[in-house]
Order: sequence, then structure tokens, then C-alpha cells
Amino acid sequence: MEKSYGQGDPHIAEYVTRLFAQDDVVLGEIRTRSQARGLPDIAVSPMDGRHLEVLARLGNVRRAVEIGTLGGYSGVCLLRGMADGVLHALELDPECADVARESFARAGFASRARVTVGPALTTLPSLVAEGPFDLVFVDADKVSYPEYVEWAADNLRVGGVVICDNAFLFGEVIREPADAPNEARAILAMRRCHELLALGGRFVATILPTGEGLAVGVKVR
Ligand code: SAH
Ligand code: DHB
Ligand code: MG
Repeated sequence: MEKSYGQGDPHIAEYVTRLFAQDDVVLGEIRTRSQARGLPDIAVSPMDGRHLEVLARLGNVRRAVEIGTLGGYSGVCLLRGMADGVLHALELDPECADVARESFARAGFASRARVTVGPALTTLPSLVAEGPFDLVFVDADKVSYPEYVEWAADNLRVGGVVICDNAFLFGEVIREPADAPNEARAILAMRRCHELLALGGRFVATILPTGEGLAVGVKVR
């Protein structure tokens, strides 16, 4: 999957990516090994990986949660931005979790990544005692995004940040749910997620206009 970046000109995207997200041996190996293990090609793009690293660094992040880890690509980006501390990586699929554990080990983060297998809504309660957190990255099943953002509102410190991938829902978020019966639940859930971020009173938030839409909210209360 070629995830886009920027204001639409592919030459600008290529130029910026070449400069800011140069070919990276560790991340490249994670993509190749994930593909070889049959994982879907849906990790964040190199530029979105860089956004995650920069945001983690900006937030002085030491305790983080990732919901939807796949093969560990975005998790390694987050850990690179974290000066120290632990990333709790939640993943439904044991095969993905296995690939992710290897990715974290190969990237030198074996001792700083804790992979938890199972549906996140079931496993998140076991993390509450480890919080409050500095950052929560949401990238799992889109229908549960509102619950994940509510969990983040309750388990981030004030000043902590929630980040949601795919905020544009692959272009579907503005479609009429009635015209898209298969995606209707996801459309309504993503809109609810946006409403929580924009109007819920707990966050100051925006959506960075990457190709996928990267929603970013800072917890204010
Ligand atoms: N963040 C990853 C990509 C995640 S893709 C990266 O950029 O590298 C979405 C992942 O969410 C998939 O691996 C899928 O198995 C996982 N997932 C789906 N539903 C989930 C759930 N209920 N709980 C936890 N993980 C889930
Ligand atoms: C899908 C999920 C993602 O998180 C993503 O970034 C791209 C695609 C998917 O489920 O198809
Ligand atoms: Mg995603």
C-alpha cells in the first residue's frame, strides 16, 4: 500500500520523504519480514513514522500505549522518539504480535516494549495501573476508535497526547453512511472520534493533513 503525503504534488512528497524519512535499514527489514510472514501491508508510511517519532520526542514521552501494533513498524518509530521508558503494544493477532516482538528486539527495544495479545478493549483495563500515560497511539479496528479515545482521555496525564491514524477513513469519513452500508459503522465511529477530540472538552485537537489523516489531541482536562 502506497500511503500518500502532503498537498497532492507527488514530487513534493518524494522530495520531503527523501530528505526527512531516508531509507532506513531497520524499518525496511520490518516491512520485508512482515510481508514475508503474510501480514497485510498497512503499517504507517515512512513520513507518518517520522511524525510519530517527532511527536513522541516533542511530548517528552516515557510511558506510551499503542493500540494496533501489526508487525511493530509504528511502535519502533514511537520508541525512537522516547528518550526512555516503556511502550505497551496491544495487538489482537498472535502472529502479528510475534512479528512485532522480533521487530522490537532487532531494533534494540526488547526491554522497552511490552506486547500484549488480545482485543484491546479487553486488555486495556490491565494497563490502567501502569498509567497515567504520556501518549496513546490508536491504529486498530476503526469501529472502536471512540472507546479508545475515551480510554485515552481517562488514562493520559494532562498535557499527554492521543494520536489516531486513518482519521480520514480512507476518504470515507464524509460519505453518507446510508450510501455505504458496509462502512456505515466505521464512518459513524470515526465521526464520533472526531467529535470527542474537537468538541468533547478534554482535548485541544487537530488533524494533521497527511494522506491518511493523523488526528492529534492534547489532553487539557
Ligand atoms: N500501527 C501499525 C499498523 C496497525 S494495522 C503500524 O503502523 O505498524 C491494525 C492492527 O490492529 C492489525 O494488526 C490488527 O490485527 C489490529 N487490531 C484489529 N482489531 C484489534 C483489536 N480489537 N485490538 C487490538 N488490535 C486490533
Ligand atoms: C487498514 C488499517 C490501517 O490502520 C491502515 O493504516 C490502513 C489500512 C485496513 O484495515 O485496511
Ligand atoms: Mg492505520
